[in-house]
Amino acid sequence: MIIAIDGPAASGKSTAAKQIAQHLNMLYIDTGAMYRGVALNAFEQNVAFDNLLAMGILLENIKLDFKTADGVEQIYLNGKNVTTKIRSQEITKLSSEIATIKIVRAKMVELQRTLSKNHHDVILEGRDIGTVVFPNADVKFFLVASIEERAKRRLVELVKKGVTTDFEQVKSDLLWRDKNDSMRVESPLLKAEDAVEIDTTHLTLDAQVKKMMKIIQKKTFSSR
Ligand code: DC
Repeated sequence: MIIAIDGPAASGKSTAAKQIAQHLNMLYIDTGAMYRGVALNAFEQNVAFDNLLAMGILLENIKLDFKTADGVEQIYLNGKNVTTKIRSQEITKLSSEIATIKIVRAKMVELQRTLSKNHHDVILEGRDIGTVVFPNADVKFFLVASIEERAKRRLVELVKKGVTTDFEQVKSDLLWRDKNDSMRVESPLLKAEDAVEIDTTHLTLDAQVKKMMKIIQKKTFSSR
């Protein structure tokens, strides 16, 4: 079974996906973390995003691995744990920029399909899972939430991590990323026609997961 979850940043994808993966014993793939990994790699190696030759070499050699330590997903870039590093504000912005490049997307889609191949049940979250990576996914969700709510959620996360920022800054960063991720030519953020849209603005995480689980059970039951 493949479950695809797409939606803008801070719409509630990751936390719900992790919980559903646990409930149903599925492999969880955070595809955003992969784009973040590529951005970090290019940043650290000083590869200009418009240098497609250098970018191609970087992509040929990149190794991205997911591991779980104490129930928490960890991402490794070329053997190094970069779980925290890829979440910086700088890499967040760069990940959205690097995700507009065609060869980067092609490589990530290939990796995502390969990672999924060896597992029976997989849940993936990102921007193009239901439209491009797995257009035949068994269940597709498209999560949305108001910009105010999303900014509030992201601000809480950042403050917890000790980042100094404020609501307006977080909101404007999210709006910039929404626009960049939705307006790009290559696989823009888009709701798949057959995706179930859920507005998580007024839902607790618990209520959201329950709602999603119900839909999964209904969809998988009716397809048997
Ligand atoms: O989900 P996230 O916020 O960690 O993703 C970081 C960036 O990666 C996001 O702004 C756009 C890009 N991305 C993408 O283009 N396609 C995906 N499937 C996942 C993420």
